[in-house]
Amino acid sequence: MEGNQQLERTFVALKPDAVQRGITGQIIHRLERSGMRLAATKMVQADDDLLEDHYSEHVGKDFYKNLVNFMKEGPVVAMVWEGVNAVENVRKLVGETSPKEASPGTIRGDFAHVSYEHADSKDKAVRNIIHASGDPEEAEEEISIWFDEEEIHDYNRSDVKHVR
Ligand code: CMP
Repeated sequence: MEGNQQLERTFVALKPDAVQRGITGQIIHRLERSGMRLAATKMVQADDDLLEDHYSEHVGKDFYKNLVNFMKEGPVVAMVWEGVNAVENVRKLVGETSPKEASPGTIRGDFAHVSYEHADSKDKAVRNIIHASGDPEEAEEEISIWFDEEEIHDYNRSDVKHVR
């Protein structure tokens, strides 16, 4: 990555609800059309160990068991996206964590709607479509949990002079 452009990588996972609903293409399209570069992708069936590493800050919380069971319901699409301030920009496209609070036009706002209260009343995890890293340090940590360095590809988008 060239210096002085705030070029960052961020980790994104399309959760089992997105895969099972067949909306992964629509979500990837939204990220691609922003001009950010898809640097890595693979489908992964997550297990307890992987999720404990990924969600280490949530281990032991009330919602942890339901969150892990949800994330193991089926494969996720794991990705690395690169761009200028990619962490912040992807989070903006993703929207608030709780779908009820996520604005229209965001991925969670357009593809989900439920509240934490509703999910809690059903003793289920909030199905919120997508995970995206919260800050650049977390992004590098999450990328290293999900990907080997040789799975991350270096190529140029042909529209790079127009998008950054
Ligand atoms: P995600 O972006 O994957 O990161 C952590 C996840 O924990 C989050 O999405 C939600 O799915 C879940 N989560 C965070 N806070 C709560 C909460 N208060 N109740 C239920 N689930 C939560």
